Amino acid sequence: NRSIYILGIESSCDDTSAAVLCNGKILSNVVANQEIHAKYGGVVPELASRAHQQNIVPVIQQAIEQANIDKKDLNAIAFTRGPGLMGSLLVGTSFAKSLSLALNIPLIDVNHMQGHVLAHFIDEEGQEKPPFPFMCLTISGGHTQIVKITDYFSMEVIGETIDDAVGEAFDKSAKILGLPYPGGPLIDKYAKLGNPKAYKFTKPRVKDLNYSFSGLKTGILYFIQKQVKENPNFIEENLNDICASIQQTITEILFDKLKKASLETGIKHVAIAGGVSANSQIRNTLKSFENTLGWTTYIPKFQFTTDNAAMIAIVGYYKYLEGIFAEENVVATARLKV
Ligand code: KG4
Ligand code: ZN
Repeated sequence: NRSIYILGIESSCDDTSAAVLCNGKILSNVVANQEIHAKYGGVVPELASRAHQQNIVPVIQQAIEQANIDKKDLNAIAFTRGPGLMGSLLVGTSFAKSLSLALNIPLIDVNHMQGHVLAHFIDEEGQEKPPFPFMCLTISGGHTQIVKITDYFSMEVIGETIDDAVGEAFDKSAKILGLPYPGGPLIDKYAKLGNPKAYKFTKPRVKDLNYSFSGLKTGILYFIQKQVKENPNFIEENLNDICASIQQTITEILFDKLKKASLETGIKHVAIAGGVSANSQIRNTLKSFENTLGWTTYIPKFQFTTDNAAMIAIVGYYKYLEGIFAEENVVATARLKV
């Protein structure tokens, strides 16, 4: 009954995060958000890597302090190898390599997307672990995937977006409405007060289990431009209804394919993950399928939806148990497949 301590490091996009897990339980999970990008309306890669460089030491120090352990107690270091922004990944990767050399402990490379999925296995009260096989809809600012998971490290992407990610659909729609970045949470907030049937937006027709969101964004842009021409106050006067209708359309698009995936695979254990899985309508809709479709659903706690290092450390923990370690010459990989 040995205690296994894993340090997780995440730096794939615009959050610098470090976490310490003991046997899959969280001792600390520190996330430093980068406010700098808001005024540019999106993540600026060059600024993101610089901010990671500044944040990485304090964030890791804080994670180790909060965990109330000594660095020497750590058994391994898990870091995000990809996918993500190259400059951002390099900061975490290089730092993790050096630290593993300095502490003389194994290094474990982690796929960020597997991290989102396996966040469901973090040992937390009130969080149930899905049984294999299960499906996971991973939805974030960079990805939209339906993943079939047959084991901790056997994952298959059975559907994905052919253009924009769903988080981009939220953020770009919000931008059209004049809302600040990231607009996803704001659409969620205003949608709660609006009528989801107020406006109709065309849903894309895409093959198989794949998604497309770029057409929706254009459709919303043209619709808003036309309305504003007739009434310059259209957005202000109808913001709640517009947000509710956009969110309704996105939710329908997501679940049309997820339902199809369940029918095709016969899998009824269904999870969601990623930043967009914080969305209240998406969470409620998934939950409602327990009654209507007989699904068992797995909805992550809010703190595990957006990018965090605990989800990297949990993958590290399972890899550690299997003895799967990184090569000495491992490199950050911007485009890494699940
Ligand atoms: O996973 P994440 O933190 O970073 C990426 O790996 O991309 O996801 C960020 C995305 C952003 O697009 C943000 O707008 C979206 O998640 N998001 C939401 C909500 N909370 C975060 N979208 C809709 N509703 C929300 N409540
Ligand atoms: Zn992510």
